Amino acid sequence: MLEIVLMHPDGKLQRLEAPVGVSLMQVATGAGVRSIVAECGGSAMCATCHVYVDPAWAGKLAPPLANELEMLECTSSERRPTSRLSCQIKLRADLDGLTVQLPESQQ
Ligand code: FES
Repeated sequence: MLEIVLMHPDGKLQRLEAPVGVSLMQVATGAGVRSIVAECGGSAMCATCHVYVDPAWAGKLAPPLANELEMLECTSSERRPTSRLSCQIKLRADLDGLTVQLPESQQ
């Protein structure tokens, strides 16, 4: 198990335990995090699982594929340099402590 840290728009931190191999979106929705809507269920088709990865972690993630980059054009909240779709972030053991900020809105 590893820990991920979600920073809510009001600044509150939420720590979640997560198994290796699942997506960040799956962990967040499984924990009832309402800021991650995930309308498409994780197929990079909706952009409602948008997060801002902490800059300290952004370089440790696998780079986004073309379909993720395309969908990041459709986020409700502004796109930033570290914007990612949380359904495309697969958790690995070396991502223990991964920290992301949740956007103000998803729809
Ligand atoms: S859940 Fe739809 S793009 Fe991630």
